[in-house]
Amino acid sequence: MADPSVENQVNGQAEEDLVNPWTVSSSSLKGVDYDKLIKKFGSAKIDDGLIERMEKLTGKPVHHFIKRGIFFSHREMHMILDLYEKKQPFYLYTGRGPSSGSMHLGHLVPFICTKWLQETFDVPLVIQLTDDEKFLWKDLTVEETIELSMKNAKDIIACGFDVNKTFIFSDYDYIGKCSEFYKNITRVQKLVTYNQVKGIFGFDDSTYIGKISFPAIQAAPSFSSSFPHIFGGNKKVPCLIPCAIDQDPYFRMTRDVAPRLQYLKPALLHSSFFPALQGAQSKMSSSDPTSSIFLTDTPKEIKNKINKYAYSGGGATVEEHKEKGGNLEVDVSYQYLRFFLDDDEKLEKLGNEYKSGELLTGYLKKELITILQELIADHQKRRSLVTDDDVKQFMTPRKLNYNY
Ligand code: TRP
Repeated sequence: MADPSVENQVNGQAEEDLVNPWTVSSSSLKGVDYDKLIKKFGSAKIDDGLIERMEKLTGKPVHHFIKRGIFFSHREMHMILDLYEKKQPFYLYTGRGPSSGSMHLGHLVPFICTKWLQETFDVPLVIQLTDDEKFLWKDLTVEETIELSMKNAKDIIACGFDVNKTFIFSDYDYIGKCSEFYKNITRVQKLVTYNQVKGIFGFDDSTYIGKISFPAIQAAPSFSSSFPHIFGGNKKVPCLIPCAIDQDPYFRMTRDVAPRLQYLKPALLHSSFFPALQGAQSKMSSSDPTSSIFLTDTPKEIKNKINKYAYSGGGATVEEHKEKGGNLEVDVSYQYLRFFLDDDEKLEKLGNEYKSGELLTGYLKKELITILQELIADHQKRRSLVTDDDVKQFMTPRKLNYNY
C-alpha cells in the first residue's frame, strides 16, 4: 500500500489521515480525526444516549473504554440493545491476524472490551485467527502463520474468556472442518466484484488473487450459519463485532452483501487506535519494536521504553512547563493512562495537575510504568498457565452454553 495513488483511492485526495486495514497514519500529533472518520465511513457516534441506554438495560456502568470514547463509533448498536431488551440472543465476533508471536498492548484493547461485552450480555463469542491472511500479506510460510496462531491463541485465552462460551478458530483449521463456513465464503465471493474490492481496499492489477478473495473469509463469521455446532442451523442469530475502526472496510462489504443472502447485517463497535510510543501520528506496531510495549516485556524493558520513547506533551524546560502546563492531547503517557488507569477520579486529578503545569511528565510516566508493569506481569502469569490442551479445547468445534 505504499503507492500513494492506491492510498488516495481508498481515502480520497484531500485527507491527511490514512486509515485502512494495512495503514493508519495522521499528520496531526493528536492522531486521527475520529469525528471526520465517522462521517467518511458513515457510521454513528457512540453518544451519551447510547451509553445511558446500555447502562440502564444492563444495570451496570459501561466499561471505561466506552465511557472515555476509546470505543467511539458504532453501527446498529441500538438494534442489538432492542434484542437484549426482548431477551433475544445475539453473538460476538472478533479476530486477530497473527503476524507476530508477541502481541503488544494495543492488541489487548479489543479483547478486553470483548470480554467485558461477553460477561455483561452473557452471549457466545467466536474469535477468528486469520493465519491465511498473514500468509498472503506477510513474508511468512503457511506453517509459520499456523504456529503464530497457536501462540496468539494463548495470549487471547489469557485475557480470561470463558471456555464454555468461546470458540477460537484458525482459518486453515476451521475451513477444513466446516463446509458451512466455506459455503458462506463462496456465497460472499459470488456477490462482490473485483471492481468493488478495488474501491473498498485499494487492490490493483498486480494484487495477488489470494488477497482479492480474502475479504470474504473475514466476512463469513458474521453469519451464524458459519457455526452449525453453536447455532444449529439458525441462520438469523444477529452478530455484534467489536473491532478497531481500520477493520470497518471488511464489514461495510459484509453489510452490503448480507441482505442479498437473506442474512442479517452485523452490528459493530469501533475502537480508536492505540498510539505508538512516539506519538499518535501512528499506531503501535509490532514491526517497529521501539514503538511498542510487548506482552512479553520485562518490568525493566517497560520502564526503559516509556522513559526513553514515550512522547511528552510537557514543556521543553521545567520553567516553561510550570508556566504553560502540559498538553494532554499529545502526551502519550497520559493517553495510555486513559486506556489502563480505570480509576476515573485519579485520572482526572492527574490530568488537571499535568495540564496546569504542577506535575511533570516524569510523574505521569512513573504512574504509567507501575500500572503497565503490573498489568503485563499479571498477563504473563495467566498466560504461563494456559496449556496446549486449553488451546485445543477452545479451538474444538462444539456446542457452547446456549440454547438456540
Ligand atoms: N484482519 C484482522 C487483523 O489483521 C483480524 C480479524 C479477523 C478481525 N476477523 C476480525 C478483527 C473481526 C476484528 C474483527 O488483525
